[in-house]
Amino acid sequence: MSRSAHRNQSAALLHKTVDPYLPSEHTAALLLHLRQRFATRSPGRVAEIGTGSGVLLTMLMRAGAVSGFGVDVEPSGVDRTASLLHSEGLSLRAEVAQGSMWAPCRGRSFDLVVANLPHFPATSVADDMRPPSWSSGGADGRRWLDEFLTGLRDHLLPGGSAVITHNAFVDLDRSHALARAQDLVLEVLHTTSALIPAAKVACISPSVLARFDGHGIYRIGPHAFGDFHIVELRRPGHA
Ligand SMILES: C[S@@+](CC[C@H](N)C(=O)[O-])C[C@H]1O[C@@H](n2cnc3c(N)ncnc32)[C@H](O)[C@@H]1O
Repeated sequence: MSRSAHRNQSAALLHKTVDPYLPSEHTAALLLHLRQRFATRSPGRVAEIGTGSGVLLTMLMRAGAVSGFGVDVEPSGVDRTASLLHSEGLSLRAEVAQGSMWAPCRGRSFDLVVANLPHFPATSVADDMRPPSWSSGGADGRRWLDEFLTGLRDHLLPGGSAVITHNAFVDLDRSHALARAQDLVLEVLHTTSALIPAAKVACISPSVLARFDGHGIYRIGPHAFGDFHIVELRRPGHA
């Protein structure tokens, strides 16, 4: 390989490792579920809260969504999603808005809402690569999850559903209770696990560790793995 080709490859690798919106294992697991679920049918009118790179919304548009609406609190996340949709020729049916959670969705309802929310149980997360808003969900991880669940029903059409990632060490019982209070049916569709880097483990709130170490957080020697679910929340009724 020539020196300049080698330099370009190194620059590409460097760019990749510092991409603040690089999709994660959570993204990949949710993406796989959505790819399988909408392999042969349209997801209808869709929204994503917290789009980041835009891969989830873009996949749903590829799957024939009637319309797409993405929200991210970070202007750079909005730009990333908008430019991915544009590069895939999908911008005509999709819109991306900057704002927090449901605020940009006022007056809109959807057949499907997807979200891989920041819900890591730490007030701040040691991660040089990501913006602070990427994963921190406050001490118990529920800062944005609770807001998502309490606002969801108002934005789901009858028969509509949300599909989200849900860390197993972020009180699933409370999510069940919030869903019930909204007359939504919560179902865990799939559970998998991802490595939690040591620097991130050190940020987890002590109360969460006391409750979930060994129950959603699994350790072997110096390594820790965090289980997470793909969760569906259904609004009863006919689409
Ligand atoms: C864990 S990342 C997921 C990104 C992308 N959906 C994925 O799966 O790769 C969370 C995303 O939510 C965004 N976010 C954080 N707080 C938010 C809020 N209050 N409202 C909307 N988006 C938010 C972040 O900027 C980030 O893009």
